[in-house]
Amino acid sequence: MHKNTKAHLLFDYMKTHGDEQYEEEVTQLEHALQAAYLAKKAGKSPELITAALFHDIGHILADDPEEANNPTLKNDLHEDIAADYFRGLFPAAVLDPIRLHVEAKRYLCTVKAGYYEKLSVASQKSYHLQGGKMTDKEIAVFEGHEHYKDAVLLRAWDDLAKDLTKEVPAIETYEEEVVAALIK
Ligand SMILES: [Fe+2]
Repeated sequence: MHKNTKAHLLFDYMKTHGDEQYEEEVTQLEHALQAAYLAKKAGKSPELITAALFHDIGHILADDPEEANNPTLKNDLHEDIAADYFRGLFPAAVLDPIRLHVEAKRYLCTVKAGYYEKLSVASQKSYHLQGGKMTDKEIAVFEGHEHYKDAVLLRAWDDLAKDLTKEVPAIETYEEEVVAALIK
């Protein structure tokens, strides 16, 4: 297959900028690759695998001084940065799970007993910064999003994608899925 330029530009960006620590010990790139691998293993759509792969690109963009989209935001709204960055490139089936993956943590901590306790320390800490427990109204709004179930799945992979010992395939493995998810 001929290399897809857009997909490879994104892969190169992740490879050259993804060596920052995610949290604890894994790098951003390792975290992204583990999340994508879990999505692929679960047999999910190209859009959701792509969302898993790029769900935290907002962290990388926010730290990149050369990136025009670099926002001088006081808060790290990385889920919005990523979704804005990808607008026009990927459809809502990619953008929405990314945009909602932080809300999905709040959702799961609120509706699922024991979920909070299983989060990493860093994730517990950011949970409180991100708004903590959801109100009934917030739950209803969240469940009103078309792709909220995908956001919940993405969140579960996100929480698992911190395994120091895990060997996962390289980013190029996902060319087929990313190309399939691109808006033509
Ligand atoms: Fe993540």
